[in-house]
Amino acid sequence: GKILFASSEVHPLMKSGGLADVSASLPIALHQNGEDIRILMPAYRQTLAQIDDAKEVASLKLDGYHQPVTLLETRLPDTNVVLWLLQSPHHFDRDGGPYSQPDGRDWHDNAARFALLSRTIVAIACNEAGLNWQPDIVHCNDWQTGLAPALLSQREHRPKTVFTIHNLAYQGLFSRETFEALDLPEALWQMDGLEFYGLLSFMKGGLMFADHITTVSPTYAQEICHYEFGYGLEGLLKLRAEQGRLTGILNGIDTQQWHPGKDPYLSKNYSSATLRNKSVNKSALQQRMYLPERAETLLVGLISRLVPQKGIDLSIAAINTLLSNGADIQLVCLGSGEPGFEQELRVLRARYPDKVAVNIGYDEALSHQIEAGVDVFLMPSRFEPCGLNQMYSLRYGSLPVVRRTGGLADTVVDASEDNLKDSTATGFVFEQASVESLTETLQRVLELYQHPRKWRRMMLTAMAQDFSWHISAQAYQSLYQTLNGN
Ligand code: ADP
Ligand code: GLC
Repeated sequence: GKILFASSEVHPLMKSGGLADVSASLPIALHQNGEDIRILMPAYRQTLAQIDDAKEVASLKLDGYHQPVTLLETRLPDTNVVLWLLQSPHHFDRDGGPYSQPDGRDWHDNAARFALLSRTIVAIACNEAGLNWQPDIVHCNDWQTGLAPALLSQREHRPKTVFTIHNLAYQGLFSRETFEALDLPEALWQMDGLEFYGLLSFMKGGLMFADHITTVSPTYAQEICHYEFGYGLEGLLKLRAEQGRLTGILNGIDTQQWHPGKDPYLSKNYSSATLRNKSVNKSALQQRMYLPERAETLLVGLISRLVPQKGIDLSIAAINTLLSNGADIQLVCLGSGEPGFEQELRVLRARYPDKVAVNIGYDEALSHQIEAGVDVFLMPSRFEPCGLNQMYSLRYGSLPVVRRTGGLADTVVDASEDNLKDSTATGFVFEQASVESLTETLQRVLELYQHPRKWRRMMLTAMAQDFSWHISAQAYQSLYQTLNGN
């Protein structure tokens, strides 16, 4: 079928997190499965800098905007997937992240920027963009595209809409004045519309009006129907679930880019048949991060946006406790985000300079080297819609330590006695989001690390897991087909 896939970030053209990875790897998988899929994303300054063959294919005048915008056509790098870039220099030609300024604060005009993206989706969906291509399915992702299903609901001849929630915590909430400034139809200002306790909610546009909602793991699909994870939207989500219009489809990963046997960033490639070569990456990582090169020390890795979601505070406190008790561990940490967490990590580093290494920033190569070099990967998230890093870790034989929530619960099998016995264990899973629970779990990790044969068996089981898009891409395809009535 014809699918328009719209996202505010697509790897490698713009990325703040896992949404970018999925917005590239899922369309690639769907394209390989024979779908006529086109990606739409904003033409950010950093995006255009990576593209040299884009050609202008349309110019659009959109409701609520004075200046016309242009659509550029190119291909997603190193693929045959058609990529449309929404060019509006006033909105997207600037330094900084997709949603925030270089200093970390949100862009003041995010509502206008992503309403523009949504209006462009609608124009293409209704074949009003002069592209001579009308999709059967419009697949939107997260709040940045949430107005599109709402606006499309008011159109007669429109394609079916799918809205994927990657993270319900970011909702795109703005004032009533912003609603007016965006020139949105007044009929949408109601409780069964975009209004959320007196505010404009982009997210709600997707949740209320999409023909189907998906989220990125089965467990998260259930969790968001409850108070603790629903942010006030749990009632609506529960209703949509009861209507059969909310399902969880586990993310896949790009198994070419994340391939320990081929990864160009590694010091030495390895596979389950050449496991000992993994240790070359461990010493290379210790060296690169100025840590003592010790093969027998448990090397723990952490790569993350530094935000409360990820349980960074738990990681810092638990590692601090273990180190102050003289545990034989090292921590390598790569991340950026809230200044408070960055500072706490630097303090931990200063306190244990030969045990803790910290790299504040964003570094693609180092993220691969960490996945390959560490023994365990730390991801004690408070909530996690899916999570990709634990899947990368499993594929690289680095055992994940995770909290039982969302996609983490769906992808990691705890090293309980039973699971160790029948060789299904792939990592360490705990329940409570507390420093005590994480510390105990890390003690459990240290004990098992003293049993090389058991550990090796777990590594092999982890590396044998299949997290390719194979199954999940097919799940999206059946959903598209069902929506189109065949
Ligand atoms: P989220 O989308 O919530 O941040 P995911 O686990 O789904 O979490 O995806 C995070 C992605 O971002 C992964 O590809 C991870 O490797 C990458 N990433 C996060 N922080 C950094 C960083 N500082 N440097 C390089 N890559 C990072
Ligand atoms: C979000 C979630 C993360 C998920 C990613 C891709 O950023 O926080 O859990 O893996 O989207 O779907």
